[in-house]
Amino acid sequence: MLVPMRCILEAADRKGYGQAAFNMNSFSQIAAAVQIHELLESACILQGAEASNAFMGGEVDFMHGSIESKKKGAENVGNIVRDFGQESPIPIALHLDHGRSLETVKACIEGGYTSVMIDGSSLPYEENVELTREVVRYAHPLGVTVEGELGVLAGVEDHVFSASSTYTNPLQAVDFFKKTRVDALAISYGTMHGANKGRDAKIRREIAIATKECMRHEGIDGFLVSHGSSTVPQEFVRQINELGGRMENAYGIDVDQLVDVSRCGINKINVDTDLRMASTRNVLALFQDHPELRESESVACVYRELTANPANVDPRNYVSGIMD
Ligand code: G3H
Ligand code: 13P
Ligand code: NA
Ligand code: ZN
Repeated sequence: MLVPMRCILEAADRKGYGQAAFNMNSFSQIAAAVQIHELLESACILQGAEASNAFMGGEVDFMHGSIESKKKGAENVGNIVRDFGQESPIPIALHLDHGRSLETVKACIEGGYTSVMIDGSSLPYEENVELTREVVRYAHPLGVTVEGELGVLAGVEDHVFSASSTYTNPLQAVDFFKKTRVDALAISYGTMHGANKGRDAKIRREIAIATKECMRHEGIDGFLVSHGSSTVPQEFVRQINELGGRMENAYGIDVDQLVDVSRCGINKINVDTDLRMASTRNVLALFQDHPELRESESVACVYRELTANPANVDPRNYVSGIMD
């Protein structure tokens, strides 16, 4: 059953747990994610970002995807998830991750997304409020959940690199909820996107606790989201490097910290990098078993990139072509 994300987050908040939200970069990943959530009898949040929609809309240069390819991708993803939703006994939400404009938000909702993120975190505060409010005004009457973002995460976010982070201010978060009426808010509290979070990345749990406490005090029934939460399994790093990759200084967030923050008011935990690493490892293994694949020029360039710097290479280049 396809549901707005809000229902899933309400259950998480009521019972005090963090719901994982996985990024989908290919159609086979969507199928796998639904299957594993059904097996575990868990609700399921599937996320597509603008670039992954462009990729799944058939855009070769998906990093700079046109609005047409993003629309096409949102429709493709929406159709496949709707089909799964009809058959599936678990609640499934389809969520746009790091949406940048009202235009992409509209395209996703038209395609069947039940939830959208509008990330105005790089804008001045008042402009972020204005953009987010506009999206809420459009999405809520359609029953679609909205997530916003406040504060800046260090690291790579949608291919924009930010060297330093600015933590979310709990009082400003309350003000943001009040002014925008968003359902959920991504906070900056020590995590970052990508595979290089630092050896001892430490979540500032007190920021989540203080924000949630201020929200309770003001009677706001919203939800907090943890981005950049991949664990970067060392087993995957080792396997990728053994297969010819070169992931250096690759460390993630310790899973104990994720369990801890899910008891401190965090209800949604975003994971993308871990899944990309799994794809990277599998594709490298495929190259090892079938060296003849490297003879095809389009595939060979993927192999060269993968072995040069797997952390920065996006499996969307090849997963649907080779792994599907
Ligand atoms: O939060 C970041 C997501 O991983 C976005 O990635 O824009 O490359 O799809 P993407
Ligand atoms: P990771 O890069 O840690 O997987 O974070 C993903 C994320 O926050 C997607 O929005
Ligand atoms: Na941001
Ligand atoms: Zn994110």
